[in-house]
Parts: sequence; C-alpha cells; structure tokens
Amino acid sequence: MKDDIIGLVAGQTDIAAGIRILTEAFPGAVAFSTSFGQEDQALADIIWRNDLPVRVFTLDTGRLFQETYDLMDLTLARYRHHFEVYFPETSAVEALVKEKGANSFYESVENRKECCHIRKVVPLNRALQGAKVWITGLRAEQSDNRHDMPVIEWDEARQLYKYNPLIHWTYEDMMQYLKANNVPYNKLHDKGFVSIGCAPCTRAIEPGEHPRAGRWWWETSKKECGLHAS
Ligand code: ADX
Ligand code: SF4
Repeated sequence: MKDDIIGLVAGQTDIAAGIRILTEAFPGAVAFSTSFGQEDQALADIIWRNDLPVRVFTLDTGRLFQETYDLMDLTLARYRHHFEVYFPETSAVEALVKEKGANSFYESVENRKECCHIRKVVPLNRALQGAKVWITGLRAEQSDNRHDMPVIEWDEARQLYKYNPLIHWTYEDMMQYLKANNVPYNKLHDKGFVSIGCAPCTRAIEPGEHPRAGRWWWETSKKECGLHAS
C-alpha cells in the first residue's frame, strides 16, 4: 500500500494531480504547512486554484516580520480561503523568556534550537495531529540537507507521508510560476531576502551568497530549525 501510493505520486509531474491522488486516498487528512515564503505561495496557489481539499496551516512563532503578516492578509483577500494559524504554547514561551530573556537564540546553538522547538516544532506536531499526508514547499537546492530528499516518502517518526512536490524545482522554475500566475509574495523578497523565517533570525543576503545565508546568519552549524530533521 505505502509503496503503491509513493509510486503513484512520485511518477506524477502535475502537482495538482499528485495532491489529488493523496486527498482521494486520505480524505480530510492532507495538510500543507506554509511559511508564506515564495515556494509556499506557489503551492498555495496550486491548491486553492484547483480547489483541492487540503488543510492549510501556518506556524506563527510570534516573532515573524510585519511583511509576513501583511502577506497573510493579502493572501486571504486574494484567494478567500482560510488557513489555520498555530501559536506556541503560552506557558512554554513565558517560561523561556522569563528564564533566558527575549533574545536567547543569539547566545548559543542550543538556546536557538530550544526557541525553535518551542515556537515551531511543538506547534507543528500539534498541527499535524490526525494528518496522514504533510505537504511542504521544500526544494533540494536550498541546502545540502535537502539535496537527497525524495518527492514523497513515508515518515516513520510522524507516521505520515511527507510530500515535497517542489523538491526538484529550481529557483527559476519557482519565480516563473509566481510571475505567470501573478501570485502575491512577501515584499521582503524585493529587498534581498530570499529565505524568510523569524525577524530576529533572518537577514537579507548579498549577491552571490548562499540563499540560506541570511537564516541564523551568526551560526556556522547546520542551519535547520528541526521542522525537517533528517
Ligand atoms: S526552516 O526549517 O528553515 O524554517 P524553510 O523556511 O526553509 O524551513 O521552509 C521549508 C518548509 O517548511 C516550508 O515550505 C513549509 O512547508 C515549512 N515551514 C517552515 N516554516 C514554517 C512556518 N512558520 N509555518 C508553516 N510551515 C513552515
Ligand atoms: Fe526562535 Fe529564531 Fe527559531 Fe524563530 S527562528 S523560533 S525566533 S530561534
């Protein structure tokens, strides 16, 4: 069964058709996580344009850019499709800030991962409860860690299929899609921001820099927040 689903979807070049196979196989249990980055805006456009019955959710860490909140509103106005917003647990954030202050993530990788865990990973786990398929906007080009990720895989830890339909898209493929379909995007992308996460942990990049150089820019370690632990 698992291999059949994986084979069927992996061989599908039409993303809407790939998602439809999954929504028919797992009605009500297909969820898409959007950070409102460029990749995710392309995927949201595909999902809503084709009226695919997918739950769309975002993780609001409480530390996002104003421009990201503006885009959330713009996206709602444009597509008139609601998305779910998951926040971190109040008590966990309160305890973290009380103990370590508001900006503990700059002090060590351990502290940074703790903040990402509280503000992103725990809410993600909650958002994925009951899901049998998790759709993401991951692209292989983004980092070494993502290079070998398949289009679709069985995630044993989460007990669901993880579907990364854009995994083989190049940056140019994505930009072409956004332009051709007039998809709304984050205004920060016009100011040198490529990969956008939380405001205190994201900066613009210079021409020639790695696309993810602006994420947790002060760190030299593997720059992942734990959402996509390999
Ligand atoms: S991260 O792990 O470094 O933060 P990245 O920003 O590249 O991830 O986004 C990769 C994918 O992770 C997105 O396409 C999206 O599916 C998911 N994702 C990342 N951040 C969020 C968020 N705040 N809310 C929902 N999904 C997210
Ligand atoms: Fe915290 Fe920064 Fe991670 Fe956001 S990206 S959850 S602010 S450490």
